[in-house]
Amino acid sequence: MPDKYAVIGNPVAHSKSPLIHAEFARQTGEDVKYVAMLATHSDFEAAVERFRSEGGRGMNVTLPFKHRAHALAQKRSRRAEQALAVNTLAFESGAIHGDNTDGVGLVRDLTVNLGRVLRGQRTLLMGAGGASYGVCGPLLDEHPAELVVANRTKSKALALCEHFRSLHPAARGVSGCSYEELAGRRFDLVINATSASLGGEMPELPPAVFAPGALAYDMLYSRSTPFLEFARAQGVQAADGLGMLVEQAAESFRIWRGVGPDTAPVIAMLRL
Ligand code: ATR
Repeated sequence: MPDKYAVIGNPVAHSKSPLIHAEFARQTGEDVKYVAMLATHSDFEAAVERFRSEGGRGMNVTLPFKHRAHALAQKRSRRAEQALAVNTLAFESGAIHGDNTDGVGLVRDLTVNLGRVLRGQRTLLMGAGGASYGVCGPLLDEHPAELVVANRTKSKALALCEHFRSLHPAARGVSGCSYEELAGRRFDLVINATSASLGGEMPELPPAVFAPGALAYDMLYSRSTPFLEFARAQGVQAADGLGMLVEQAAESFRIWRGVGPDTAPVIAMLRL
């Protein structure tokens, strides 16, 4: 009997996670069955408990339930505490463990797949919602020269900075601002963690925001977003979030199975 895992969310039918984990299982020879599970607003916790009581070994949690998964977990990793959100549940020895692999997924895509060194880089993170909370800690672990969090609603950027300052030893160089306040500033790495791309929009960035040789990264996995097109028009290298998606899945797989899959062929397969 294979060990059972699932991704739970709403909506969830579009999720690539079952395909990604099937590839990881095939590659590593792990006996794993991974399915997508739709939950409603009223039955998320009950659905997790049911899956667990039926022998499920772990779950990925996607929107809009990452905060509720954080509350449900009985033990939480440091990165889950920093993110205030959980995307990976592991059911072990009677307890529900919560972790967050989004940030490490982003960092691995940037450093391993895209070959960037993050230490000493002037880094701009756009957005101050759940996606930004998820990646801030692992970005700070890499010791950028500075981490500026810009947001349309400046107060939310300031609140995010305050949260990380209280939790992360390397958070002294973190500051929050509005997009207008970016005028005259340049960054080596610009990450879009807003949901603006979903609506075909982008935050109002000054075109001179990219330093020579900069990388523009959109956490959405779509080859073309307004932000990526804007960056390409400035002659800047642009990358979407497909690699992050596969890397966060690989980290979940590692947590559950203790083996690390090879992500490159899976990324290549999804690019086809
Ligand atoms: P999530 O938790 O899924 O990240 P969220 O908390 O609604 O969702 O955050 C979405 C982020 O995208 C916010 O930073 C939001 O900016 P505001 O805090 O000012 O709302 C940002 N965002 C969404 N649409 C945007 C747009 N068109 N331009 C700029 N920022 C946008």
